[in-house]
Amino acid sequence: MSSEAGITAAGVVRSFGSVRAIRAIDFEAPPGEVTALIGPNGSGKTTLMLILASLLAPDAGTVRICGVDPLVDPLAVRRMVGWMPDTLGVWDSLTAREILQTLAACYGLAPPERERRAEELLRLVRLEDLAGQPARVLSRGQQQRLSLARALIHDPQVLLLDEPASGLDPGSRVELRSLLRTLAGLGKTIVVSSHVLVELDAIADRAVFVKRGKSVQTQRLVDAGTQRRTYRICAEPIEPLLEALSRHGFGFTSSAQTRTNEVDVVLDGTAHAAWLLRTLVEADVVVSAFAPAGGALEETYMTLEVGAE
Ligand SMILES: Nc1ncnc2c1ncn2[C@@H]1O[C@H](COP(=O)(O)OP(=O)(O)OP(=O)(O)O)[C@@H](O)[C@H]1O
Ligand SMILES: [Mg+2]
Repeated sequence: MSSEAGITAAGVVRSFGSVRAIRAIDFEAPPGEVTALIGPNGSGKTTLMLILASLLAPDAGTVRICGVDPLVDPLAVRRMVGWMPDTLGVWDSLTAREILQTLAACYGLAPPERERRAEELLRLVRLEDLAGQPARVLSRGQQQRLSLARALIHDPQVLLLDEPASGLDPGSRVELRSLLRTLAGLGKTIVVSSHVLVELDAIADRAVFVKRGKSVQTQRLVDAGTQRRTYRICAEPIEPLLEALSRHGFGFTSSAQTRTNEVDVVLDGTAHAAWLLRTLVEADVVVSAFAPAGGALEETYMTLEVGAE
């Protein structure tokens, strides 16, 4: 893998008329990792992905995809990048198989190789049984799986997936997760935008948060153990828990989201949490649940108030 593998973008700016879709985004996605792109509706995620895919030019800033500037050599970038858009955009009257074979031809695969690759991907996304159907009859989740197969057709080094899990049933989501982990394990660079933060917790190595067209924070998920997080603790009865927490100087809250026998406590990472759990159990508190109240990414999202406009 060359030292130039992966994605770097610095100082990216892009407006659409008077709408400043991207004001200032710095973004990196190293090879071999899944990078999550997280931000509320309209924060510039799709715009950034289009720029990274060489499908839209930035007004300012530098972008390198495996060392290549999309403005200088868009075709080289397109050979390296697999792009899964959030809109389905299938060719309605072609079958799933024909769509994949046609795209394989566009990417220059020889005829026998086109067929082999199309069948391989139809199997991968479990569409073999529907391969001969016109794409328009596929359900939303099936079209989404076809869209993923399409993005993988030329075995790209870089994968840009815009809301790939939307419309997928739980089983397909699990499959998508394991596929992305496998591809990252092969050294590919993977960028996933999603609003389903719990899902990203399970697959992302790192996350870039954007807010109103600006990159506001980067987080490594392996660091999540030291992150200050809200834990939800459930005890029956609750009184001994409240007494023990007060005795050790812990503040706690209960909210509309907590049940009557639950409280939320902010803790400084997993070591702190382990200590508190041991202390509670030793104090004979009957702890029936003790876990982070939300995912690590959700916690950052809320503290950054990324969601607040
Ligand atoms: N072609 C366009 N013409 C005009 N405005 C646009 C265009 N594309 C995007 N925008 C605007 O740019 C901003 C960023 O849009 P973008 O689609 O990148 O957001 P997003 O983070 O992907 O949102 P979502 O989570 O809803 O997908 C929005 O205010 C949007 O209305
Ligand atoms: Mg979008």
